[in-house]
Amino acid sequence: MKKFLIKGGKKLSGTVEISGAKNAILPILAACLLTRGKTVLTNVPKLVDLKTMAHLLRIIGARVDYIRGRMEVDTADVCFPEAPYELVSQMRASIYVLGPLLVKFKKAKVSFPGGCAIGARPIDLHLKALEKMGASFETKKGYLYASTDELKGAEIDFENVSVGATCHILMTATLANGKTIMRNCAKEPEIDSLIDFLVKMGAKITGKGTSTLIIEGVKELFPVGMEMMADRIEAGTFLIAGAITNSEITIANCNPEHLESLILKMQQAGFEIGVDDSSMKIFPTRKILPVNIVTDPYPAFPTDLQAQFLALMTIAKGTSYIEDTIFPDRFMHVPELNRLQANISQEKGKAKVIGVESLSGAEVMATDLRASAALVLAGLAAEGETIVSRIYHIDRGYDNIEGKLRLLGADIERIEE
Ligand code: UD1
Repeated sequence: MKKFLIKGGKKLSGTVEISGAKNAILPILAACLLTRGKTVLTNVPKLVDLKTMAHLLRIIGARVDYIRGRMEVDTADVCFPEAPYELVSQMRASIYVLGPLLVKFKKAKVSFPGGCAIGARPIDLHLKALEKMGASFETKKGYLYASTDELKGAEIDFENVSVGATCHILMTATLANGKTIMRNCAKEPEIDSLIDFLVKMGAKITGKGTSTLIIEGVKELFPVGMEMMADRIEAGTFLIAGAITNSEITIANCNPEHLESLILKMQQAGFEIGVDDSSMKIFPTRKILPVNIVTDPYPAFPTDLQAQFLALMTIAKGTSYIEDTIFPDRFMHVPELNRLQANISQEKGKAKVIGVESLSGAEVMATDLRASAALVLAGLAAEGETIVSRIYHIDRGYDNIEGKLRLLGADIERIEE
């Protein structure tokens, strides 16, 4: 099993280049099933989750090639509308193929996702919306058997804001018969990027950037090429890497507009942050101040940066409160950070972080993607050696994080046990 060995306490310097956004590319890959022919995506990072989605598309009958940041998806021979348990259980975003398969084949067999390390993540909003559009479902042996005579446009009022349900229903509605109105949609930048992709393919969508999306179904979509947007969560993670090591670094090839909530909190924590159109620069501070955060849907503070920001607060001068309203169980990093001599107590959905003078290296275990990033960040700041195990979680969403950190001067190595 691979681990990271981190010798902490080093200052970072220089520039890190941010990769394409996993959470933008996953729905776009599923949306390739809406057309027949070759889609070309560029700025695609090497990530396990994208490999998993490519594998799923291949099972369905697509040809997927990936060479150095360029992914080609040819859906000309797509023929098998099924998503097996082995893949859906590894990656919940696999559920995105359900709607496109239904609209193209009028039937689909997709495994239920099951549990996940950051808590219960139901798919009821996806299914209710598809039912309203004319789908029906049966469940047998952990699989969802979906069928429809025809998917039709519908009025969908989401009970809760969901990124996944918004992406999924949006892409499905592009080929449904008639008009779909979706209210209470998520507004994450990755959804805007999916809209750009679908519109480029010929979809008719209005309301981009707002919580109401209106989709006029079309008969056909056409294959296109598109460059993938930068990953705001990776960019935010590196910004926090600069902060936790109190260093001056530049985060290049990103969109700071997507990180306004984080930048504001970093400024409140005492960091000066320089921003231009496509990069951010963080400067050291004399004193890291405690700051409270509450995660909420975009544009509020993202749950995907909660663990990393919490790691930073472990060495702030004072007490901070970190609340996750989206995934209240997403605090598996807390006991691990406490192994590094952090002082965090936690109850459902909320952590109290009493800043300590310094963290101290130890062996810790990654439990999910963003928790792993938090442990790596803490390891960079801790005195002595930190070993982070189960780093396969981090490979799901960060392309060569150790290489990028080493280029900034960190002492981090991937080791085999
Ligand atoms: C996406 C992101 C994930 C991020 C999350 C929240 C991808 C591939 N993943 O996940 O990185 O942490 O958004 O920003 O883009 N919910 C329901 N019923 C549903 C769907 C969701 O109750 O049918 C609840 C969830 O349990 C959660 C909340 O809605 O409490 C938000 O989840 P959602 O936005 O759907 O997250 P994902 O799309 O799974």
